[in-house]
Amino acid sequence: MAKHSVGWVASQKRWLLAFLVMLSVSTLIAFFIRAAFDSCDRNLDVVGKRVPLGSPIGTSPSPLSFMKSKLVLLVSHELSLSGGPLLLMELAFLLRSVGTEVCWVTIQKPGHIDEVTYSLENKMLDRGVQVLSEKGQEGTNIALKADLIVLNTAVAGKWMELDASLKENVPHLLPKVLWWIHEMRGHYFKLDYVKHLPAVAGSMIDSHVTAEYWKNRTRERLGIKMPETFVVHLGNSKELMEVAEDTVAKRVLREHVRESLGVRSEDLLFAIINSVSRGKGQDLFLRSFYESLRLVQEKKLQLPKMHAVVVGSDMTAHTKFESELRNFVKMKKIQDRVHFVNKTLTVAPYLAAIDVLVQNSQARGECFGRITIEAMAFQLPVLGTEAGGTTEIVVNGTTGFLHPVGKEGVTPLAKNIVNLATHVERRLTMGKRGYERVKERFLEHHMANRIAAVLKAVLQKSKSHSDA
Ligand SMILES: *[C@@H]1O[C@H](CO)[C@@H](O)[C@H](O)[C@H]1NC(C)=O
Ligand SMILES: *[C@@H]1O[C@H](CO)[C@@H](O)[C@H](O)[C@H]1NC(C)=O
Ligand SMILES: *[C@@H]1O[C@H](CO)[C@@H](O)[C@H](O)[C@H]1NC(C)=O
Repeated sequence: MAKHSVGWVASQKRWLLAFLVMLSVSTLIAFFIRAAFDSCDRNLDVVGKRVPLGSPIGTSPSPLSFMKSKLVLLVSHELSLSGGPLLLMELAFLLRSVGTEVCWVTIQKPGHIDEVTYSLENKMLDRGVQVLSEKGQEGTNIALKADLIVLNTAVAGKWMELDASLKENVPHLLPKVLWWIHEMRGHYFKLDYVKHLPAVAGSMIDSHVTAEYWKNRTRERLGIKMPETFVVHLGNSKELMEVAEDTVAKRVLREHVRESLGVRSEDLLFAIINSVSRGKGQDLFLRSFYESLRLVQEKKLQLPKMHAVVVGSDMTAHTKFESELRNFVKMKKIQDRVHFVNKTLTVAPYLAAIDVLVQNSQARGECFGRITIEAMAFQLPVLGTEAGGTTEIVVNGTTGFLHPVGKEGVTPLAKNIVNLATHVERRLTMGKRGYERVKERFLEHHMANRIAAVLKAVLQKSKSHSDA
């Protein structure tokens, strides 16, 4: 057995080795298997109009093939390794793969060319995406010629104000704009950002909860009406599914990560994988974890050693929140049970190594929460807050358990942790059900199908507008 796996590693799958190297290297760039960390995700569902789920992949042509030879302009508020831009980049590559002509504009560039921007721009150029300057006649010309313009995130509305020649053409552009929104934060509800929203061809939002929130808030706060809105849940990339479904690769990654964390193969790992910030609820998770340890002690349960893993730490940011987390761990003397891991885009090794994912986003929750479907692909049960997109992904009692947001959630989460630690069968069954759910509705081809339906609707609308 051991011999088999050694031979296997030596001979195959360069990506696996790449992963192992990545684990010991601190720079993040190289891979983006996934559209990271911050807010949302995508996968399509249409509010009002249901789009049928996708046909299986295999040899069937891409649902986006009607986009061949079309010209699409993608407008990103920034170029970074956060969820929004990476998602838009995925769309760029999906479109390139069917022969769409794709142009890209980044609104907010850092004053200097940093490593991340450089590497991402090159990645796009390699795949045939034209990267344009955020101002100037060229961008305006492309915008006027384009069949479709995708604005990514609420802030991208600023683009139309950047350039005088663009500004005077706004009325011509709006009917072919699709606005992709991934956030649920109050400060986006400013007319400055979204005043053109009612006039665009459509908006695409990552979860039903978020779409409802936007409809309500634009009406109540701004007195404007959302355009036709399409809900598009996100899907897992093929690369991620490939790792998730490769038992040998998973075992190797699991052993490697556990060794690097200093935990044994029989120990139980509960992980939260999000950039460390109050909104993501790492503080409350650690409180729950501590409480679960006490419950286990009180009830004298005989369980494997339990650990909490916090992936997404960034000590260079020197945030008060990050210090708070570390102080809590010290104060409670659970340093041997809590492991902090630096922020990374390469989440697959951690998903392979852990037993349960905790999704503890607070307030209105995740807009979608891509890490949730990624964990389910790895057959992990999810303990998630009953908020936002998580409620559209996790089936309470079947693929995991939901707990309330806020302090009221601390004890329920602690109990859910003990529940899954105690019932091995339940944990494994929930993981399998989660995987089945992903296969049914959260794969790349599902997302591509749903996006295709949206793009078709938007193209049609803009055409009827220009014919009129
Ligand atoms: C994590 O980040 C800190 C601060 O940026 C750095 O000092 C440390 O070496 C990193 N750890 C690993 C394992 O890369
Ligand atoms: C809509 O917004 C108002 C105030 O902004 C709030 O009181 C109400 O509960 C919201 N309704 C829904 C369905 O979210
Ligand atoms: C989730 O299910 C459990 C039982 O399976 C139930 O006790 C709990 O109230 C449910 N939570 C929510 C938010 O529906």
